Amino acid sequence: MSERWSQRSGSGRMAILTSGGDAPGMNAAIRAAALLAMSQGWKVFGVSDGYRGLLEGRLTELGAGDVSGIIREGGTMLGSARCREFAERAVRDVARRRLRDAAIDALLVIGGNGSIAGAAALSDPAEAESGGPLVIALPASIDNDIGLTGLAIGVDTAMNTIVDACDKIADTASALNRTFLVEVMGRRCGYLAMTSAIAGAADAVLFPEAGRSDAEVVDAVIRTIERVRARRGRKNRVIVIKAEGVSLSTERLKEMVDARLHESDGKGLAVETRVTVLGHVVRGGRPSAFDRLLASRLAHVAVRALMAGEHRRMAAWQLPVEPPAAVGHRAADDPYCWLVDFDAVLAETEQLLAGTSPLVRWRARVLDEIEGVLAL
Ligand code: F6P
Repeated sequence: MSERWSQRSGSGRMAILTSGGDAPGMNAAIRAAALLAMSQGWKVFGVSDGYRGLLEGRLTELGAGDVSGIIREGGTMLGSARCREFAERAVRDVARRRLRDAAIDALLVIGGNGSIAGAAALSDPAEAESGGPLVIALPASIDNDIGLTGLAIGVDTAMNTIVDACDKIADTASALNRTFLVEVMGRRCGYLAMTSAIAGAADAVLFPEAGRSDAEVVDAVIRTIERVRARRGRKNRVIVIKAEGVSLSTERLKEMVDARLHESDGKGLAVETRVTVLGHVVRGGRPSAFDRLLASRLAHVAVRALMAGEHRRMAAWQLPVEPPAAVGHRAADDPYCWLVDFDAVLAETEQLLAGTSPLVRWRARVLDEIEGVLAL
């Protein structure tokens, strides 16, 4: 590799941590970042168990051999944790002290929106002393609920896992003409449910951004069953994908749907329903080729950025909207990637989760438009 891209080659010390819910592809990001930094003469340290490990000073130097082969593995070789106490300034002061004691020049945080909020607070100029490490983040969360990146690391693998599960469920659902309510992860965000419903040819999709009441959710399922059963010469199986963020629980939804089906038995619906909650299965497994590539490219952009002296930015993949110049800039040497300000990322994340982002409104509008087509 050329030495030209690194303005700080040969001297620095970079720490890498993974935090929050793990996502397939985190290991690919660790590997790429570590190898790239090492190739520039930097020492690389892995922090165990996210911010919790940082507070306890658990940093270990990594060699190329330590990251060999991990690109194929799900989870994270560094371990992860949810560290609620990081919201406190005094706790972050301890973390800053640990970084200073280990003479860390640059910190790479790989995680979801909570982890990026942690990175933003850790590097907040209002509390961080000057001369602290440069901090850059990579978006990694199966939920795809991080602002200002088209995709986060792990989303593609999770989507593939859901589609694969739905293909299997469809076999048994078709054999017995059953209706399946399949719950998928995503926390407050319906992205995984929406995209896997399209890719998995589900008959309906329920997601929190639609803002439906419980009764409207039940109606949507009943309407789908009726529509599917009205088609001629076809099997009557129904697959409904439901995001975990929908406030009506999946078990309760089944009860309410069953009650409505029972009432309307006179119409000959006689449908059997089943629930499958995919849960943490969606978060595991070998990362897809795309997630490995995405993680590696974002890591490349991040390490370049750190070595160019950039600070408090997230490496992002294909922004859904062109941001104002103040929010960030295109990555040098990768036309698909951006470097966007932590504060802007967190502001857009809030809007995504509140459903006020134009991006969420667009997603909901598209799903609304094609809802009738799903069950055809
Ligand atoms: O944020 C990733 C995620 O998998 C969400 O989809 C889910 O709601 C949550 O984490 C589960 O968290 P935990 O593993 O702590 O139960």
